[in-house]
Amino acid sequence: MGIEYNEKSEIFHLKAKDTSYIMELFKSRYVASLYWGKKIRSSDVSRILQVKYRSFSPDTDPSDRTFSLDTLPQEYPAYGNSDFRSPAYQIQLNNGSTISNAIYKQHKIFQGKAKLEGLPSTYVEAEYEAQTLEIELFDELIRLSIILSYTVYENFDVITRSVRFINRGQENIKILRALSMNVDFKDDYFDFLQLSGAHTRERQVQRRSLVTGIHSIESRRGASSHQENPFIALLRKDSNEHQGEAYGFSFVYSGNFLAQVEVDQYRTSRVSVGINPFDFSWLLEPGQCFQTPEVVMVYSDCGLNKMSQTYHKLYRTRLCRGKYRDRIRPILINNWEATYFNFNSEILLNLAKEAKELGIELFVLDDGWFSQRNSDTCCLGDWFVNKAKIPEGLYGLSNRINNLGMEFGLWVEPEMVSPNSELYKNHPDWVIHVPNRPRSESRNQLILDLSRKEVCDMIIKVISDILASANISYVKWDMNRNMTEIGSASLPPERQRETAHRYMLGLYRILDKITSTFPDILFESCSGGGGRFDPGMLYYMPQVWTSDNTDAIARLGIQYGTSIVYPQITMGAHVSAVPNHQTQRITSLKIRGDVAMSANLGYEVDLTKLVEVEKKIIKQQVTIYKDMRELVQFGIFYRLLSPFEGNETAWMIVSENKAEFVVYYYRVLAEANAPFSSLRLKGLDPEIDYQLVQMDYNILSNGEIYGGDELMYAGINIPELQGDFQSVIWRFERPQSNSIIIDNPFRYLKINCPYIRYY
Ligand code: DGJ
Repeated sequence: MGIEYNEKSEIFHLKAKDTSYIMELFKSRYVASLYWGKKIRSSDVSRILQVKYRSFSPDTDPSDRTFSLDTLPQEYPAYGNSDFRSPAYQIQLNNGSTISNAIYKQHKIFQGKAKLEGLPSTYVEAEYEAQTLEIELFDELIRLSIILSYTVYENFDVITRSVRFINRGQENIKILRALSMNVDFKDDYFDFLQLSGAHTRERQVQRRSLVTGIHSIESRRGASSHQENPFIALLRKDSNEHQGEAYGFSFVYSGNFLAQVEVDQYRTSRVSVGINPFDFSWLLEPGQCFQTPEVVMVYSDCGLNKMSQTYHKLYRTRLCRGKYRDRIRPILINNWEATYFNFNSEILLNLAKEAKELGIELFVLDDGWFSQRNSDTCCLGDWFVNKAKIPEGLYGLSNRINNLGMEFGLWVEPEMVSPNSELYKNHPDWVIHVPNRPRSESRNQLILDLSRKEVCDMIIKVISDILASANISYVKWDMNRNMTEIGSASLPPERQRETAHRYMLGLYRILDKITSTFPDILFESCSGGGGRFDPGMLYYMPQVWTSDNTDAIARLGIQYGTSIVYPQITMGAHVSAVPNHQTQRITSLKIRGDVAMSANLGYEVDLTKLVEVEKKIIKQQVTIYKDMRELVQFGIFYRLLSPFEGNETAWMIVSENKAEFVVYYYRVLAEANAPFSSLRLKGLDPEIDYQLVQMDYNILSNGEIYGGDELMYAGINIPELQGDFQSVIWRFERPQSNSIIIDNPFRYLKINCPYIRYY
């Protein structure tokens, strides 16, 4: 690992674990992209750059007609001075002009990684873990500095990038576009991968070929969104999950974003990611600085899966923070789908008692506990407990739950306000809105204007008071609508287009304050499920409610797509009732459990209505999950079969030391006279033997021994399954001489046993 600069050739060589990222100071002025990929030894590679006269590409330097910025691969291209491709930034001056000409001024290299002021970002725990290069570009005319920041990690094939604008001049500068990174590849032999969807259908994997023109995804919703995740990948056309090159671009931000690839006339590919320039601008007064959020770029020479594993480990260990970062997560029961708004303390207590009986550890009280909130039509903003429902208050209720031997967690939605709330009546200007325009409601709510300091301070105070008022060990932080009529009553006209980004800065300040004041609370973020499942939120809250869709079959695609970037420990996955509340599908309790048990397990079902056999199955799931959750939550994730490509899905999780692993196989529809089917496993040690210690919920005391090589190269056979919506779990360990035999009362419940299929 390291960053080298060769003064003679003016080449920067950034060496991550097995990756090289190389740039050249072309003509000592322009920062040119030379190479990004598998590590190469030499830094003397300026021959990679091809320079040639091209018609209709302006002569940036009239004395050299072979050179045009229009054909130079660049790291941070400007608008307006001879590059016709998409710029990384654009500014506007007082005279109305919108061109700029910032060229290389100086650079510095230092050990470690600087914090991004007010923004989430990946971090280091010790300086030796990473090195940072800062290249300063300077526009002499207006004295604007643009500092490009690159960090390489010692142990990851990662380059992080961000940009800082500093106005060192005398006049105001309006930033119209300030993306966080740009890189130009010399060819277009790529597919573009995106994670797109909708509410209850998040992060569906889509892959398409690049052709000439712009391929982009974006959010204009004031949140990273259900519709597009702030992530894209470029895959070589011959790459797949486990082979070939993959390049990932993940944006550490929770608001409006743009991620695009432009293939130009010479089939080069320009990738740029950052805050969406649509409806954005930022007024930079003399002496002020604007910091863009970070993009985490990952290179893999072994397909998409290796890229995902890099993101998983980096995000789990150097993006997520706090006490829970390295701790196993509790199994929870959430009352939302069990009761919706119809509950009181006794109903909650009964649910908690059942949960406790089944071995569940944390009781989460969801929406409806405050003011008169008995539906989604009111009361957001009036955060005082509804004594008709909970006469003993939150303190009393949390004590009663604690007395059962369970932790207590609480739902809040602090960023929102209902129009009929006291808060809104007292402060109608405290919402995002445009004067004299209607204020569009969504789920009967408006959005508090977090670009205003006093609004953020109010939220910090109100939520801190609630969290201090009872024994709360978990918080679900929800956010249930997107922005419309974006504007702030507190900003002058020339700053109105700053509102959405200022909102994010306000939100991050609130989250920073609250999560650091309550370090013992486990925070889970949520936005109608996965509407803000992004690295920005993960910096403050180490888990996310993956989707409001709890249907096991729909979850296969959602969790598979989510795993492209995010580690399984971050994904909340609950077993819920059938018919499923979102899809009306009826699936077995087994497959519902098997899907949820591959992530961060919870239950969201009225446990008081279960019949005995269901309780037994859940008890068994809970026991088994507890036994293997360290492996599930911290192990290395391998995708084996994609739900986007067929009827079967499979994935597996291997412990870091390869001593144990668990395999999950799911089949959606039954097939008559089905073909033989087997699964070739990944990531094992071919030299060691593994013993099958559990199949489905049967703990095997003397299971078969398989070679790691056999399991990877020959595979494991899928047993014959009957009926729709079937699943199998296998768990293997290195054989131990003193293996413990766990008594299993459900040995008789074979996987195809018809009567469990309907629970
Ligand atoms: C949306 C969340 O995703 C649900 O889980 C639930 O908390 C509801 N909001 C409550 O209003």
